[in-house]
Amino acid sequence: MLGEQASQRASLEARARSILESAGYERIETPAFEATELFARGVGESTDIVRKEMFTLQDQGGRSLTLRPEGTAPVCRAYVEHGMHKRRQPVKLWYLSSFFRHERAQAGRYRQFWQVGAESIGSEDPAVDAESIALLAALLAEAGVMGLRLRLSSLGSAHARGEYRERLQAHLRANEASLSHDVRSRIELNPLRAFDSDDADTQSVMRTAPLLLEHLDADDAEHFAQVRRLLDVAGVAYEIDPTLVRGLDYYTRTVFEFTSDELGAQSGVGGGGRYDGLIERLGGSPTPGMGWAAGIERIMLAGERSRIGASSEVAAHATVLAPVELFVALDGSREELRGAAFALLSEARSAGLSAQMDLGGRSLKGQLGHADALGARYVAIVGDEQTVLKDMQGGGQQTVAANTVVHAVLRSHHAL
Ligand code: HAM
Repeated sequence: MLGEQASQRASLEARARSILESAGYERIETPAFEATELFARGVGESTDIVRKEMFTLQDQGGRSLTLRPEGTAPVCRAYVEHGMHKRRQPVKLWYLSSFFRHERAQAGRYRQFWQVGAESIGSEDPAVDAESIALLAALLAEAGVMGLRLRLSSLGSAHARGEYRERLQAHLRANEASLSHDVRSRIELNPLRAFDSDDADTQSVMRTAPLLLEHLDADDAEHFAQVRRLLDVAGVAYEIDPTLVRGLDYYTRTVFEFTSDELGAQSGVGGGGRYDGLIERLGGSPTPGMGWAAGIERIMLAGERSRIGASSEVAAHATVLAPVELFVALDGSREELRGAAFALLSEARSAGLSAQMDLGGRSLKGQLGHADALGARYVAIVGDEQTVLKDMQGGGQQTVAANTVVHAVLRSHHAL
């Protein structure tokens, strides 16, 4: 991640903080790696993530550790471990961290990538679902993500899903010969994933498959209806997609995904849903949860560059590069001049000035061009005998003692 992108990411982070913290989310940071068991149990043994995509290593004590492929299981582990059930529920937590998946790298798909995520744990109120989805919609809109679509569905609660699973398995078995190897191998463990297959024959089998959305029990159907109503009230547009299944096993009830037409094959910008059984699976007492994560790189790919990292207030306060107040240039290439220039740079920074110096070995002319391109207010040309302070905007220049440069810049600042 290079300079401009780093500044865009920081801008996104500032927007996320502002949106999520005003909504009562607190920042959480979990470790970069966790016990492999956490993901095997939390994300699910039958998922692609656990079967193929984890970076797993053994530590010197023989323990199996895995670089986090996602953030929900770690946040839920932290919730249980830190007794967060004693706090006012739901506990709302957000993160912006790097994650690791062993996937084939391509545009928008990396082995190390960043996610911003939000988890709301401890309430099954449909308003939590709607609020959570609306917050991601707001963040993506602020980031100027183009060609955005929101797909929404419900997977029902785990206990109510059993009967449907059997129907779906019967359909898959009846058409087994036409299914891809991958889907066939998951009929027992994870039949729902068949909806996600990119194999053409499997897709045609799935066109006549029974749909979970048509087999929800009364409570789940009512929960989903309320989520939709609240989204309507909030003016969040969505499409119901009964074939939407997500790549992680912990989902129950609401699931959703934002895609962008700008993104080609890797069109998922962010997604999430409810995971009402996860905390219990990780050793806590039964506790509902709801959340999402969105890929920072994908938001940046699909966002208007002018909106991310541009001059909005949020961006300005955290990220947009501060204008360069003092550029330190060298009139000569001798080592002691470099030392003096560096000392001046440090002095300027300690005094709170935004200062830069040439680190590319340019000629004096080249350095002045660079200072100009950066929009520097002043350039100090450190020479053998004297330092010349050039006012790049006012046009004047004066010769000053090296140890009074910073003072002179600060004084002119205050005079402005
Ligand atoms: P996920 O759909 O696996 O969900 O990932 C969320 C987002 O991370 C994706 O929509 C995508 O933008 C980004 N992403 C995933 N893999 C990559 C990759 N290899 N390279 C670049 N970006 C990627 C989760 O991770 C769940 N933990 C979301 C969640 C939170 N559900 C409930 N709470």
